[in-house]
Amino acid sequence: MPENYFDERIAKSYEARWPELFEPAMVDPPVRFLAGLAGGGAALELGIGTGRIAIPLSRRGVRVHGIELSPDMVAELRAKAGTDDIGVTVGDFATTRVAGRFALAYLVRNTIMNLTTQDEQVACFANVAAQLEPGGCFVIEVIVPQLQRLPPGETVRPFTVTPAHLGFEEFEVATQIASSHHYWVVDGRLETLSAPFRYVWPSELDLMARLAGMTLRERWADWDRAPFTSDCRSHVSVWEKTMEPVVDVLEDPPMTDQYLAGACNIGPAEIAMRRRAGHAGLVVTAALAAVLLRSDLHPAWRLVLALPAAGSAAGYLQARQRFCANFGWRGVYNFGAMGQEQRVADDRARAEDRRRALRIMGASAAVGAGVALTAMAVG
Ligand SMILES: C[S@@+](CC[C@H](N)C(=O)[O-])C[C@H]1O[C@@H](n2cnc3c(N)ncnc32)[C@H](O)[C@@H]1O
Repeated sequence: MPENYFDERIAKSYEARWPELFEPAMVDPPVRFLAGLAGGGAALELGIGTGRIAIPLSRRGVRVHGIELSPDMVAELRAKAGTDDIGVTVGDFATTRVAGRFALAYLVRNTIMNLTTQDEQVACFANVAAQLEPGGCFVIEVIVPQLQRLPPGETVRPFTVTPAHLGFEEFEVATQIASSHHYWVVDGRLETLSAPFRYVWPSELDLMARLAGMTLRERWADWDRAPFTSDCRSHVSVWEKTMEPVVDVLEDPPMTDQYLAGACNIGPAEIAMRRRAGHAGLVVTAALAAVLLRSDLHPAWRLVLALPAAGSAAGYLQARQRFCANFGWRGVYNFGAMGQEQRVADDRARAEDRRRALRIMGASAAVGAGVALTAMAVG
């Protein structure tokens, strides 16, 4: 799971810390833009937060569902009037799926940058595409990386300087990470917040969209559809789901050293062990098949081939998918040395893991049965 920077302290003071975001001039244009795109269909907000955009959108009659990492932000949303019609699922929007299909998904205020690896951002596009109706749209509002504004040789740039709030961005070009450092003066005390963000170029986002089966439909400088030019510091982009994804993140999870619910729960040591198990099962299946096919035993004996064949398939499938069915079933994961299991934190993630574990076990059993029945049918 990504780190949650929006804890109780930030959630409770979100509106007080960023009051300008709640001005009508910052809320009405995105709500108008998004309501127009949703056109009567349902909308999915990734990182719904305290409902700054979702609540007015829902008031305009759009059915809104949100995915949110921080339970504290959700608690703030729920404390507001008029949120009963808004559904919220607590989870990581790169991997969490909710029931139903959406005409629109959106991710505002640079929140795509909260995913700090390319793999996670790619996974986010794939996850959105899987939840959109054909022809549905994905909207992102995000800055254009401001590297041109760095003086030569410098890595730090101030982005806000007021008597009560200082903010600096610190760039690490090698990893495409800009860490934001905030310093607020609150009641005479200094409060700080530092968080990493992965900055991402419009062209890279377009490529992620293509991998997920979406194509760029519109790109604007702002929510009022001002033209996007070389001088723009941010953009509002709309991709449309037009084709099948090139990458299905759950079938082909990204290389990662992080637990991804329902997609990845083992690291290199565990993967290598399962691959070895796959090889061993294959050798045993082949040797046993050679013996049984030459022997005078009743062909029903060949059913025993199901066991090593299923074991071999399970080994290869788990290694290929970077997912241990046994761990998934038991609600644990391991990216360290053998035996260092950790518990999966929440019920939703455990449920996703169990579903994937069942799929792997089902597929392995089917391979085992197929091998055994084929062997019985042979001469
Ligand atoms: C900058 S706030 C924006 C909130 C809201 N969309 C708004 O416009 O006011 C980003 C929100 O995204 C959430 N978030 C960040 N990374 C997330 C992730 N990987 N999955 C789900 N929510 C995430 C944060 O907890 C936070 O509530």
